[in-house]
Amino acid sequence: MAILWNKSLEIGNTLIDEQHKKLFEKADQLFEAGKQGKSKEYIIQLFDFMDDYAKTHFRDEEKYMLSINYPEYNQQKQMHESFIQKLSDLRQEYEKAGANITVIIGANQFILDWLINHISNADRKIGEYARKIKD
Ligand SMILES: [Fe+2]
Repeated sequence: MAILWNKSLEIGNTLIDEQHKKLFEKADQLFEAGKQGKSKEYIIQLFDFMDDYAKTHFRDEEKYMLSINYPEYNQQKQMHESFIQKLSDLRQEYEKAGANITVIIGANQFILDWLINHISNADRKIGEYARKIKD
């Protein structure tokens, strides 16, 4: 299964759009690694990437939302915080138990859920709003 970024997900800010694309790429690499039985090796890189990604991306996206007076800023901020919390829970589990099947499936579900429910839904609305206020 390939899950790909597409133009309908564009929010209209190059920096944010590039960051979203990057996450889709990383997710695709994770799914590919899974197919090749290499999830264990890949998962630690993914955690490192995600820690960094979450910090910079959420900061940039929140700044952008404020700059356009986005009305659902607070809900977005909450979702970002819960992402960071879940990521840290997963990472802790990984540090305790290693890359076992629960951690691997958990990481796959976590990232897939984020692409579908957050980027393809909540973040896409930022784009809709930004286009509306430009007209
Ligand atoms: Fe967001």
